[in-house]
Amino acid sequence: VLAFVNGKLIPEERATVSIRDHGFLYGDGVYETLRVYSGRAFLVREHLKRLAHSMRGIGLKPPMSLEKIAQAIDRVVRANRAEEAVVRLTLSRGPGPYAFDPFPCGPPNLVISVRPFEPYPISFYQRGIVAAVVSVRRNSPRSLPPHVKSTSCLNGILAKVESKRLGAQEGIMLTLEDNLAEGTVSNVFVVKKGAIMTPALEGHLLAGVTREWVCRLARRAGYRVLERKIPLGLLASADEVFLTNTTMEIMPVRRLVVAASRGARRRVEVGTGMGPVTEDLFWRFRLSAEAQVGKEQLF
Ligand code: PDD
Repeated sequence: VLAFVNGKLIPEERATVSIRDHGFLYGDGVYETLRVYSGRAFLVREHLKRLAHSMRGIGLKPPMSLEKIAQAIDRVVRANRAEEAVVRLTLSRGPGPYAFDPFPCGPPNLVISVRPFEPYPISFYQRGIVAAVVSVRRNSPRSLPPHVKSTSCLNGILAKVESKRLGAQEGIMLTLEDNLAEGTVSNVFVVKKGAIMTPALEGHLLAGVTREWVCRLARRAGYRVLERKIPLGLLASADEVFLTNTTMEIMPVRRLVVAASRGARRRVEVGTGMGPVTEDLFWRFRLSAEAQVGKEQLF
């Protein structure tokens, strides 16, 4: 398996970065995860637009143009003859002194690796997964902005640990104001009376590329799509709940476990497995991913 490291393709086991890289020392970096369908990375432009946004968010200068990065992604995918795969792109601050100050650091390290796509169990899609509304809150946009896809992931990791303890496959985080924010690695959608709702961006969540794509597909299909504040009560009384991200695509939720502050748990059944709206969107998504194969997608 070959990885792209600062312009060179090298065997993954020999790929290294400095132990003084602030990405390693302090989580000072940004990243993207892309899906490859039939040998072609999906929604590359959208992912790189978000990468640029993340870089701006932490004041990290791009080591090469977005066009060059898109070509590098393509190079890694081809070099590994990847067909159904996942691309991980990491851009870290680079080596520097043992101090937070990012200014003396550099040059940044750009690493792009690819791994085979491992599908989630089919039963997850047939029956839906269990999601836990955890007590860990999503970072305030005034502390560590969730709209920056940074390698400082401890907020999500703590939420993931709690969700596993609650027996769930994904954790859902609320904002400090008790509204729905997002999953640890996914965005959340609620279907109620035929309308599709998802938390408005407003800084409290990552602008998921899949989220945006699903909103677009749903609107094009004639659904009412509302980006708004979603209180926990609305989530619990939804007709259908589903999650989106690059590797899950559209993942139905069959049950919510709600962590209460005093340790008590509440279980809420949400619909029955794959609901009709979720299923419709699931297939629309699949078709759209297949449709891009064979089309030129670079900049
Ligand atoms: N994570 N919210 C968070 C916090 C995420 O980490 C992710 C993606 C998403 C969904 O974004 P997208 O639709 O662009 O994949 C939402 C990726 C999959 C990861 O961490 O590897």
